[in-house]
Amino acid sequence: MNFNTQIKGTGRYLPEKILSNQDLEKLVETDDQWIVERTGIRERRIASPVHATSDLGLIAAQEAIGASGLKPTDIELILFATCTGDYSLPNTASLLQAKLGAGTCGALDLNAACSGFLFACSVANQYIRTGMFKNILVVGAETLSRIVNYKDRDTCILFGDGAGAVVLGRADENSASAILGESLFADGNLAELLMLPGGGSKMPITKEVLESGAHHMIMKGRDIFKNATRTMSRCSTEVLLANKMTINDIQWVIPHQANQRIIEAIAKQLDISMDKIIMNLEKTGNTSSASVPIALDEAVRAGKVKRGDLILITVFGAGLTSGALLLRY
Ligand code: ACO
Repeated sequence: MNFNTQIKGTGRYLPEKILSNQDLEKLVETDDQWIVERTGIRERRIASPVHATSDLGLIAAQEAIGASGLKPTDIELILFATCTGDYSLPNTASLLQAKLGAGTCGALDLNAACSGFLFACSVANQYIRTGMFKNILVVGAETLSRIVNYKDRDTCILFGDGAGAVVLGRADENSASAILGESLFADGNLAELLMLPGGGSKMPITKEVLESGAHHMIMKGRDIFKNATRTMSRCSTEVLLANKMTINDIQWVIPHQANQRIIEAIAKQLDISMDKIIMNLEKTGNTSSASVPIALDEAVRAGKVKRGDLILITVFGAGLTSGALLLRY
């Protein structure tokens, strides 16, 4: 028997410290007008030095579990989407499990860069549909400020820290809520467009690596931009077609919050009004795998997204990964 998957609760956490465009003007040769015109971003949040990614994820997870009416011990699996986990080893999901008091449930990290949260929701959906698990916590959390080079104006203007979480659970029998479909995409041939070269098995951290700055993220922004619009539109169209729907059926699109111009280009390609697009990047910047669950939680708590609404989520990130997920909230 197949079950449907429902979002039972959402949560988010944004650190208190704000890094504004004016603050960045003091660090690199840039200006507020350039950043706003090219990206739509005005400020982003920076995690406290005493907080690691699991700490941000913990607050978002507690909010999501609280909203779901469940207890941490009701969670049967934790999927933690991040590319800035606390350590390479152990996994951040296990650290979160202990902090949450979620018993000894399964816990694993999933890294598909900015697409990680959507990919993790897709994985959770399979477990719930088959009946293996009833309640799964999916977290997207990042401390990108720890891998950003604040001397590189191409990247430091874009990224921020934050966390978002959802509890996905088996939908009630009489509920219309469901994840209706997913389209997942990756093109590893383009992986070098956005990467963190140092610190992995290819280039372990040494004095030379640190001196070269290879422990920071590097990006070919213009190429990412082109690929992002193409793949997000493609995945969105695929998932709509598979469900015999058109963009006119959709109440809300929640895109990865990377750049206002990318989002506007997708809206144009999909032929949907910007009124139906949920966008909060002005105040958060790009928080990678946290961006969609933060935007979703804001929209749910503001009463914008309501039960029964059809929502299209679409993302892209390093890898180059991309995806779309269609759900009835
Ligand atoms: N301030 C002022 N000038 C700048 C800045 C800055 N912060 N950054 C670059 N410039 C300059 C460039 O040097 C260039 O100058 P030149 O013409 O003299 O060479 C000029 O501005 C234009 O640069 P472009 O790179 O062509 O600018 P573009 O319009 O493409 O905007 C941007 C750059 C904002 C990075 C854009 O390409 C973009 O958003 N790309 C997508 C990036 C993205 O979303 N990455 C995240 C992926 S998700 C993940 O997995 C983490």
